[in-house]
Amino acid sequence: MKRILILNGAGNKRGNTARLIESFRSGLDESHEVCEIYLQDLNIRGCVDCQGCGRKAPGTVNPCIHRDDMHIVYEEFTRSDVIVFASPVYWWTISGTLKTAVDRLYALVRNSGNAANVKQSVLLMVAGGNDFRQPLMWYQGFEYLMGWENLGVALNNMNEAVRIAKSIRSVRP
Ligand SMILES: Cc1cc2nc3c(=O)[nH]c(=O)nc-3n(C[C@H](O)[C@H](O)[C@H](O)COP(=O)(O)O)c2cc1C
Repeated sequence: MKRILILNGAGNKRGNTARLIESFRSGLDESHEVCEIYLQDLNIRGCVDCQGCGRKAPGTVNPCIHRDDMHIVYEEFTRSDVIVFASPVYWWTISGTLKTAVDRLYALVRNSGNAANVKQSVLLMVAGGNDFRQPLMWYQGFEYLMGWENLGVALNNMNEAVRIAKSIRSVRP
């Protein structure tokens, strides 16, 4: 069993991102536990680079100075094995909603170090066009820095989302 966290950064709850996520979920083995967070429903402020997270005791439940809904993401993120980033392309990159939450993960990474080090991840994206170069660059950079394992990328492609989901094994090979 893997715990899978889907961070849904779409502006539209029932749009193309939701459909791509649905395809992904349809391919998952029932043994996995899935938590999907629709980020637009949460009140999440932007990171202000105050470095307050570095001054908190390691392992603090809410490592950030902001007091907002990000604690919900921190809690789920810490418990999860696989992080799925789902977003439409907005101005050639991921949505601001998803980016704001990802920026705030900095506090958790800074505060807990290797709690964030053991993840696998997936990128699910939709777009009106077909230019995903910038979000791919972001994703690859993030994966590289975090040392995470990329399980796959599905871009405007429901079949690929299903395939990635089916490939998720309970135990790492
Ligand atoms: C603010 C905004 C910016 C967008 N920028 C792009 C873009 O740069 N490239 C592109 O191909 N589509 C762009 N789109 C189109 C969306 O990616 C597309 O409509 C997508 O299917 C929306 O996903 P959703 O149905 O989950 O909301 C943009 C849409 C919005 C609202």
